[in-house]
Amino acid sequence: MAIEEKIKKLVELRAEARLGGGAKRMEAQHAKGKLTARERIDLLLDEGSFEELDMFVTHRLTDFGLEKEQYLGDGVVTGYGTIDGRLVYVYSQDFTVLGGSLSETNAKKICKVMDMAMKAGAPMIGLNDSGGARIQEGVLSLSGYAEIFQRNIEASGVIPQLSAILGPCAGGAVYSPALTDFILMAENISYMFVTGPKVTKTVTGEDITVENLGGAMIHASKSGVAHFVSENEEEAMKTLRRLISYMPQNFMENAPVIDCDDPIDRVDDVLNQIIPDNPNKPYNVIDVITTIVDNGEFEEVHKYYAKNIVVGFARFNGQSVGVVANQPSFLAGVLDIEASRKGARFVRFCDCFNIPLVTLVDVPGFLPGSSQEYGGIISNGAKLMYAYGEATVPKVTITLRKSYGGAHDVMSCKQLKGDLNYAWPSAEIAVMGASGAIEVLNFRELSAIEDTEKKAEYIAQKETEYREKFANPYQAAKYGYIDDVIEPRNTRFRIIRALASLATKKASMPAKKHTNIPL
Ligand code: HXC
Repeated sequence: MAIEEKIKKLVELRAEARLGGGAKRMEAQHAKGKLTARERIDLLLDEGSFEELDMFVTHRLTDFGLEKEQYLGDGVVTGYGTIDGRLVYVYSQDFTVLGGSLSETNAKKICKVMDMAMKAGAPMIGLNDSGGARIQEGVLSLSGYAEIFQRNIEASGVIPQLSAILGPCAGGAVYSPALTDFILMAENISYMFVTGPKVTKTVTGEDITVENLGGAMIHASKSGVAHFVSENEEEAMKTLRRLISYMPQNFMENAPVIDCDDPIDRVDDVLNQIIPDNPNKPYNVIDVITTIVDNGEFEEVHKYYAKNIVVGFARFNGQSVGVVANQPSFLAGVLDIEASRKGARFVRFCDCFNIPLVTLVDVPGFLPGSSQEYGGIISNGAKLMYAYGEATVPKVTITLRKSYGGAHDVMSCKQLKGDLNYAWPSAEIAVMGASGAIEVLNFRELSAIEDTEKKAEYIAQKETEYREKFANPYQAAKYGYIDDVIEPRNTRFRIIRALASLATKKASMPAKKHTNIPL
C-alpha cells in the first residue's frame, strides 16, 4: 500500500474514532442537553492544544454480543492540552459509546493519562458521564475502577485533581471523583449516588427522584459532595479553567503570579464603616473579601454548603491565596459540624499546594446542642483546628469582630502557628460573649438579688465592665497574640505586605509516616 493510501486510512480511522458511538447517539446526547466528550474538551482546553492519545483502543470482550459493538477509543477520550498555556491531562467519558461505561481497556486509558500527569507533575481533570461499570465485563471493570482509585489516592497532594460530573455517576463510580480535590456538577444533567432511586425504594421504602437523591444542587447544598454547581456545561468548563488558574502544577511549585493592575495600597474607606455598632447585627463578610482582594475577584468554593463559613480562592497582588472567613450573616458565623469540615478540607487543599491562607475571623463560638454533640462536633471541630495547626503555608489572620472561646483558637490563632495576626479595632477576643460570661461568673450574686429591675441593672453594669475589659483587641495585643491592631481601610495593603514578608517562609512538621487527622 502506498503511503498516500496509508495516510488516507489513518485519516478515515481518526474520523471514525471521532464519531464515538455514531451520529445518532451524538444527536441523542445533544437532545438530552448534553455536549459530547470531545465538545467538552474543546471548551475546556486552549484552542487547538489537545493531543489525543489511544484513539485506536478497543475492548477485548466477545461475550453478550460485545464483539459486534466495537468503537474506536472505547468510550473515553484521553490526552493532554493546555489551560492558559499550562499543561493539564484530561479524560472525558463518551456516553455515546455503551453509555460511557467503564471497561478494562477504557480504565487502562484513564490510568495511562493519570500516570502521565504524575510523571509530568501536571493537574488531572476528569469529565465524568458514564453508566458505571460495563456490565458485560464484570470483575474486569471493577478492577479497572480500583486501578483508577489507587491512582487518585497516590496523586492526592501531588497534583491537583478536578472532577466534573456531566451525566450519570452512580455506584462505586462516585468514588473516583470523591477522591479528587474538587467536584463540579452541572445542573439538570448530572447526578451522583451510591445507590439509585430504585434500590433505595426496595431497601428502605423511600420514594425519591433522581434529582432529589443526587442532583447537582442537593450535593452542592446538602451533602457537600459537590464544591461547585454550574448552570450549564459552558459555565462548568469556564469554572474549571478559572480554578486551575489559582493552583500550581504540583506540590513542588507555587501557583502562578499574574500581573496585578489593582493598586496594592488601595485604601478602602468603606471598611471603616462595615462593622455595625450593634455587635449582634450581621454584615456580609463577602463584601469584606471582595473589597480587599485584587479586582474584587473571589472564586467561592462550596458556596451553597455550610454558609456560616466562606472559603474560596482570590489574589493579593497577583498571588493566589485561599480565603477562609466566618460569615456573620448566616447563623451568626457560628462553627458547626459542616462548617468545620468544609473549612478543614479547604485549608488542607491550600496547604498541600503551597497556597497561603488569609483568614477573616468573626466567630461567636461553636454551635451548642445535642444534635451537634451527637453528630461529633468535637472531632469535626478538631478537624479544622488540626488543618490549621498542620498547615505550613503562610497564614495571615485578621480578626474583624468576635473571636470567642474554642473557636478563637481554631481560627488560625497565633498558637496554631498563625504567622501574622492582625485585628480591627472592632475585634472582641475573649472566652465568651458578655451575657454568657456574666451569667456564669455572677450566678450566686445574681440569684441573691430579688428585685428584677435591680437584677437587670446589675447584669447590665457587669456586662459593661466585661465588655470594656475584654470586648476589644488590646488584651490579646498586650500579650503579643495579635501582632497589630490595624485600621480596617488599610487591610488590603497590610495583607499584601504580610504575604510579601512570608514569601520565603520555610516551615515543616515533625517527621512522621503521615498525620492522623481526626476523621
Ligand atoms: C454497559 C451500558 C451501561 C453499563 C448504559 N449502557 N450503562 N452498557 N454497561 N453499565 C448502555 C446502554 O445499554 C445503552 O446502549 C447506552 O449505554 C445508553 O444507555 P441508556 O440506558 O439508553 O441511556 P439513559 O436512558 O440515558 O440511561 C442512562 C443510565 C442507564 C441511567 C446510566 O443506562 C443505566 O441505568 N445504566 C446502568 C447503570 C448501572 O447499573 N451501572 C452499574 C452500576 S454498578 P445502546 O446500545 O442502546 O446505546 C457500578 C459498580 C462500580 O458501576 C463499582 C466500582 C467499584
